[in-house]
Amino acid sequence: MSSVKIECVVKEGYRIGESPVWDEKESSLLFVDITGRKVCRWSSVTKQVETVSVDAPVSSVALRKSGDYVITLGTRFAALKWKEQLVTTITQVDQDKSNNRFNDGKVDPAGRYFAGTMAEEIRPAVLERHQGSLYTLYSDLSVVKHFDQVDISNGLDWSLDHKTFFYIDSLSYSVDAFDYDIQTGKIGSRRSIYKMEKEESIPDGMCIDTEGKLWVACYNGGRVIRLDPQTVDKQETAYVGVFFPQGKRLQTVKLPVDKTTSCCFGGKDYSEMYVTSASDGMDKEWLSRQPQAGSIFKITGLGVKGVPPFPFAG
Ligand code: BGC
Ligand code: CA
Repeated sequence: MSSVKIECVVKEGYRIGESPVWDEKESSLLFVDITGRKVCRWSSVTKQVETVSVDAPVSSVALRKSGDYVITLGTRFAALKWKEQLVTTITQVDQDKSNNRFNDGKVDPAGRYFAGTMAEEIRPAVLERHQGSLYTLYSDLSVVKHFDQVDISNGLDWSLDHKTFFYIDSLSYSVDAFDYDIQTGKIGSRRSIYKMEKEESIPDGMCIDTEGKLWVACYNGGRVIRLDPQTVDKQETAYVGVFFPQGKRLQTVKLPVDKTTSCCFGGKDYSEMYVTSASDGMDKEWLSRQPQAGSIFKITGLGVKGVPPFPFAG
């Protein structure tokens, strides 16, 4: 653990850096700046960032089997042709909620694009509650709503056996798990597998490693934490008379910025971790203490690898 190294690879004050995804074909890291309305691609070869500006908050980006990318833009799923800088709408959600936007999204192991919504914030983590929903875009471009009443739809990933879907609704301060049917893309019963400690603050983006452990970026917590979703720790929580075991925190890696937003594995063999961060909501004094707020970081020496991202099958 002593060889863990953190490096700032893109020193830029992105407003809400999010949705890091490794694009192996390009040896690049894709990510978005949600309120900055940008999709970015950092080349690990040239160390340069290419940017596509869009006309609404862009909250996640994913690879696409047919090449190019898919994004969540405002309340739309959209296709992005990188070279042409061309965005075309696939479909829209939350049509009755004009103050909503998509937030985090990720493709499941069968190529379905999961993404959830939230109300626009008055300031970070302050918003009208219960306005969001979780959706899936299937490869035939149809959309299914799984549930509503979400505050801030955030981190998502799937267990290595594809039988569990992990999900974060940030203001619940909990990392949850659902039974998952990879054949149909349907989710089953829900339980909490980890409750955040006070100093870990708000759970945001998340990814899984090849040992089946979860890495969660802690917004306002300035860290990523590694969780074992299976072990029993702390107090078992009583929930309608049933006892659900809580996962155990295995590791904490602190970063030089408070607003760590999301993480993914990438680089050679997926042995590096990339972490995005935000600067929205920080005043001058806070920013002067954390001049790297909004930057992209690379963590090496974790001694664990990640799972390559799945491309959208549509
Ligand atoms: C959202 C931000 C929000 C943060 C903390 C992010 O995923 O995009 O708008 O402030 O989570 O909940
Ligand atoms: Ca997020």
